[in-house]
Amino acid sequence: CLTPDLLHLHAIDNTIVVVADIFRATSCMVTGLAYGIESITPVATVEECYAYQQKGYFAAAERNAMKVEGFELDNSPFSYMDDRLVGGHVAMTTTNGTLSITKAKADAVKVLVGAFLNLGAVANYLQSQSYDVLVLCAGWKGRVNLEDTLFAGALVEALKEEYMIAEDSALMAMRAYQQAKDDLLGYVSNSSHVRRLQRLGIQKDISYCLQRDLYDVVPILRGSTLVGM
Ligand code: MLT
Repeated sequence: CLTPDLLHLHAIDNTIVVVADIFRATSCMVTGLAYGIESITPVATVEECYAYQQKGYFAAAERNAMKVEGFELDNSPFSYMDDRLVGGHVAMTTTNGTLSITKAKADAVKVLVGAFLNLGAVANYLQSQSYDVLVLCAGWKGRVNLEDTLFAGALVEALKEEYMIAEDSALMAMRAYQQAKDDLLGYVSNSSHVRRLQRLGIQKDISYCLQRDLYDVVPILRGSTLVGM
C-alpha cells in the first residue's frame, strides 16, 4: 500500500502490517529501540504527544520535518542515540509515520515497524509467519514517495520465495528496488523528501537511514506502544 490514503482498499484483519517511513520516523523508532529505549508510543496528534510529555514521557514531535516547539526530541535518528533515553518511555508524533501506525493498529493482526536499518530482521521474522503481509508506506501527506516504496520493494524481494506477490504495486516496488539497490543514495537524490530535508540543512540523516541491516530489532505494537522483539 503505497500511501495510507489507500489503506481502506485493503482488508487487513488477517494481515501483518509493516509500516515504513524511511525518512525518518520508522528509522528513528528502530534506532531508538536498538539503543535501549524501553518503549515508543506513536500518536497521531501533537496534543496527545503533549499529554504524554506531561505524564513524564520523553516526547518527540515533528511536523513538516521540523521539531515542534515545546518538545524535547526532534525526528533525527541521531537524537535517539542518547544515554538519557535508555530504559525510558518515549511518545512520538510525526507528520506521516506515526499517523500510518495509528491507522493500521485497529484492524491488523500485528503492526511491525520496518526500515532499511532492520530490513533483514523484519524479513526473517515474517518468514516464520502464516498471515498475509502488507507494507504500509507512510508517504507524504497522502502522496507516494520513493524511499518508502523502495523499502517495500526490498521486503518483497526478500520474501518472494515464501509469499505470493498479490498486487502490482508490490511488483512495481520490487522492480524499482532492483534498479536502485546498488546505489540507494544516488537513486533517491532528487526525490521530494530528500530535497525537503536538504533545504532544512538535514544531510547526514539521509545516508544514515539508507543503510541496510544495522540492527536486529523488530519493533512491534503491543496495545498502543512499540516494543523491540
Ligand atoms: C514523517 O513522519 O513524516 C517524517 O518522519 C518526516 C521527517 O521528519 O522527516
